[in-house]
Amino acid sequence: MTSKNARHYKKAMGVIPWATQTNAKRLQFQWGESMPPFIKRAQGCRIWDLDDREYIDFRCALGPIILGYQHPSVDDAVRRQMTNGVLFSMASPIELEAAEAFVQNVPWVEQIRFMKTGADACTACTRLARAYTGREHILTSGYHGYHDCFALAWPNHGAPQALRDYVHEINYSDLEAVNSTFEKFGSQLAAAIVAPYEWNEDTGEEYLRLLRAKCDAYGVLLIFDEVLTGFRIARGGAQEYYGLTPDLAAFAKAMANGYPISAFAGKREFMQTLKKTIITTTYAGETLSLAASKATMEVMRTEPVHEHITKLGKRLRSGFSEIIRETGAPAFAAGLPPAPYIQFDLDDSKKNTAWQDSLFAELFAMGIFPSERWFINYSHKPEDIDQTLDAVRRAMLKLVEEAQIKEMA
Ligand SMILES: Cc1ncc(COP(=O)(O)O)c(C=O)c1O
Repeated sequence: MTSKNARHYKKAMGVIPWATQTNAKRLQFQWGESMPPFIKRAQGCRIWDLDDREYIDFRCALGPIILGYQHPSVDDAVRRQMTNGVLFSMASPIELEAAEAFVQNVPWVEQIRFMKTGADACTACTRLARAYTGREHILTSGYHGYHDCFALAWPNHGAPQALRDYVHEINYSDLEAVNSTFEKFGSQLAAAIVAPYEWNEDTGEEYLRLLRAKCDAYGVLLIFDEVLTGFRIARGGAQEYYGLTPDLAAFAKAMANGYPISAFAGKREFMQTLKKTIITTTYAGETLSLAASKATMEVMRTEPVHEHITKLGKRLRSGFSEIIRETGAPAFAAGLPPAPYIQFDLDDSKKNTAWQDSLFAELFAMGIFPSERWFINYSHKPEDIDQTLDAVRRAMLKLVEEAQIKEMA
């Protein structure tokens, strides 16, 4: 870390636990000295750290950036809205406009309500399901945010232990766990909430179809947590990708190209539960993010955003494969085109992590901001992908050579 970063980090740690607000943005020392702990500016697919070092970014702010940082259509819509005000004493007309723009992209959605975070949206879905069914148990699968019901597996989580009796967490693609959980608790379950994609080649289709069938058989609401998959794996998210429709869904990242907004949405029959229950928060009608979301939806609907992302993601992934073949690195390339990745595949998982950490450390030093899932956005150009692959090739060659030397020693 440079002295400027070190000074800032020390000061931030003094007043902000973690020095950041988001777990995944905590400084990862294992990613080497060149990993930038702070980013002060971003434009298109490029980001700049405190020392003005430039990186090609594949983290996309952990998923929200789908069009590229500071996309002009989105930021202009925000600036226009700002001249009218940010938050009002009653609903703003932009709420309807953003809702209509959303359902044009996700046509299975009949009704929608906006929130602020992915966790908000997931909690709203399960609350709604409990109110609709009058049941208390839920099945969860995947990360759904930090709220009580979803944090029970974490160490020292601070949520009431009693919730464990009501929340049944299962692993993605575990068909047996689906069967046994429904057998035991099916008639007490209000909902099954599932992050519907695990970012590998195994799409889990059988798993999702089994969940849909079990939910139908037991009168349980199926909720897709599309916080990460929505507008990312396809314009219409996992629902479009699998052709499988849930009853409710949570959306957040990529809804507004980085502006803070989320949504819970779904079939009218279930959303109408809001006639008899209350889910409310003061800032959900904040107009700048709604204007940003409306504009993001329009760009995604009228421009070849997902074709572009898919095309460049394929270029990146096949480049990864070629480099692995050329260098003999113990890895393979995987992932859907919108978010490919390199998976090291030695028998020892600690060694795989060490390879990945070393690769990331090399890439940071070469001006590439890598990611566990390399998110592509609409502003990445073929030249950015080629420049990135050139860096990955050099980094991988160095690591393979170092590994060979170590083996010989
Ligand atoms: C699938 C999924 N659900 C929910 C969340 C929580 O979203 P947020 O951090 O906006 O609360 C995340 C965040 O990474 C997520 O990936």
